[in-house]
Amino acid sequence: MYEHLKEVDPEIYQAVVDEAHREHAKLELIASENFVPYAILEAIGQPMQNKYAEGYPGRRYYGGCEFVDVAERLARKRAKRLFGSEHANVQPHSGAQANTAAYMAFLKAGDKIMGMDLSHGGHLTHGHPLNFSGIYFDVVSYGVDRETEQINYFALAEQVQKEKPKMLVVGASAYARKIDFARTREIADSVDAYLMVDIAHWAGLIAAGLYPTPIPHAHVTTSTVHKTLRGPRSGLILCPKDFKKQVDKAVFPGVQGGPMMHAIAAKAVCFKLAATEEFKIYQQQVLNNARALASALAKNGFRIVSGGTDCHLLLVDVKSKGLTGKEAEEKLDSVGITCNKNTIPFDTEKPFIASGIRLGTPALTTRGMGVDEMGEIADLIAAALMAGDDSRELSAVKGKVAELCDKFLLYEEIWKGEELTVNKIEEEAAKTVR
Ligand SMILES: Cc1ncc(COP(=O)(O)O)c(C=O)c1O
Repeated sequence: MYEHLKEVDPEIYQAVVDEAHREHAKLELIASENFVPYAILEAIGQPMQNKYAEGYPGRRYYGGCEFVDVAERLARKRAKRLFGSEHANVQPHSGAQANTAAYMAFLKAGDKIMGMDLSHGGHLTHGHPLNFSGIYFDVVSYGVDRETEQINYFALAEQVQKEKPKMLVVGASAYARKIDFARTREIADSVDAYLMVDIAHWAGLIAAGLYPTPIPHAHVTTSTVHKTLRGPRSGLILCPKDFKKQVDKAVFPGVQGGPMMHAIAAKAVCFKLAATEEFKIYQQQVLNNARALASALAKNGFRIVSGGTDCHLLLVDVKSKGLTGKEAEEKLDSVGITCNKNTIPFDTEKPFIASGIRLGTPALTTRGMGVDEMGEIADLIAAALMAGDDSRELSAVKGKVAELCDKFLLYEEIWKGEELTVNKIEEEAAKTVR
């Protein structure tokens, strides 16, 4: 694959091959990542990337848009059908830009928003002081209950009554439990606030009917397309038709210029695939795998934040085993298991150190792994984290990780038969040891 790239720029070609092999050779447990099918890689690497198409289908500021219009109309139609939404804007370049546009559609600078605290699972764009959302809006954060580590709707309702925000932002990057969106709408209504729901993490599960949908309740719903939904790296906004005009205007010309038409074509492919029976089966497996991983880790003595999971991700309190999140992330990385450190609710560590790790199953499930593999992976995680500096134990775990990865091939059309940088590094290292 990628013969032209190989000829024109061998260094970038090598990096692409090495990345494809890295994705194959490691156990990817980052909850926000997934592996798109070749069809989506093809859809995003094609001539629509050349096209300027400011505006919307049928109303563009450039000529020659007849075929990109086909792609955008299909993407919109499929997104609406998939989520049961009256309107879809498929132009946001990313989740953060979808959120920026959603704020712009409903708020003015200085308005008060209420979002979940980053350290309790929320996202930067939900009001973090260093993010535009925290800079341009007056932010009040809510958190989870200290005991249950879940949203306490009575406490939320009370805080909303007291603060009277213009918008209640619901959604998170590291919250593993179901959210009662009908309840959050009632709470928002109690002070005439807008309800924005960010489903970036749960979109695939929602499309498959396995996580509650906010669509009937939210004034605006934003999402990424590349996490559980397994599409190209990009964003999406859904809303009732009453808000169509203001949302479209906020995306373009509000916060974006020319849409990435190649990404929109790839989104259309993603929404088509997400409407299939196979996708539902895949999402059910993502869920089964997350539950299996959580319970196998709990059996190994790890504390799972909130006691379990209702989605594709789980937060593991590694302090319960005497480690920081940073140490756990680094140790796991050293044996070929990729995840990220994450604060846990009421964490006493700074975010860069953290007391937890966040694990997710969408990527490994795409490779075909099931609950048996999750049990095995939980044991490997426990063995690595408890190995201390025992290099023999760590290299035994690393060997088992490699064996498992080789049973579930990924992107072999890209890296098979190629010279890999990692092999060269290992050969050099072996020479020095000798
Ligand atoms: C809940 C949530 N919203 C928004 C985003 C931002 O998405 P992007 O990285 O595409 O800008 C993320 C990404 O992690 C997220 O988890």
